[in-house]
Amino acid sequence: MYLRAAADSDFPFLVDILLHAFNWSGEPTFTKDQLLNTPAVSHYVAGWKREQDFGTVAETDDGRPIGAVWARLLSQADPGYGFVSDAIPELTMGVLPGHRGSGAGTALMTAVVEQAQGLGIDALSLSVEDANPARRLYERAGFRKVDRSGDSDTMLLRLP
Ligand SMILES: CC(C)(COP(=O)(O)OP(=O)(O)OC[C@H]1O[C@@H](n2cnc3c(N)ncnc32)[C@H](O)[C@@H]1OP(=O)(O)O)[C@@H](O)C(=O)NCCC(=O)NCCS
Repeated sequence: MYLRAAADSDFPFLVDILLHAFNWSGEPTFTKDQLLNTPAVSHYVAGWKREQDFGTVAETDDGRPIGAVWARLLSQADPGYGFVSDAIPELTMGVLPGHRGSGAGTALMTAVVEQAQGLGIDALSLSVEDANPARRLYERAGFRKVDRSGDSDTMLLRLP
């Protein structure tokens, strides 16, 4: 597996991953069309890659993307599910089924935290639904619950 910085051309793959992130339970919550036409969801990828967007893509040895994590600043006027402040980017992440449980997600998280630190960012946030086992990965990475929204926790990682 290789890791590389997410690029403008990764937009279609990030849409796929966003779909997996929202459909994490296996129950299809959204189709791709619904996702792209629901502003509260499509704002995680709309206009990618904006100036302050950053992220990492994991690829197989032969260059096929298998997972991604990215950070995006959203605003109080158009907040994400894991919104904390206008200055704290929110993460979205996912690994394709069939490639999970082998360390890709952990490697992606480590990489995006390093990217954020390199950019001098103070903290990263995310939202995780109650039953999603991804929570354990986030806790291991140092994220802590700071808020509650519906059946999800907002988690924050403060960066030194
Ligand atoms: C969460 C996810 C990105 C982790 O990637 P991964 O490559 O499986 O992660 P790793 O192998 O590095 O680490 C394993 C950890 O990931 C999480 N995980 C493993 N399988 C998972 C799955 N099917 N769904 C959700 N999380 C899973 C668990 O925290 C696991 O740790 P544990 O063994 O202590 O339970 C990936 O499982 C995934 O894409 N899940 C579906 C989409 C999703 O939930 N995105 C996040 C929305 S908040």
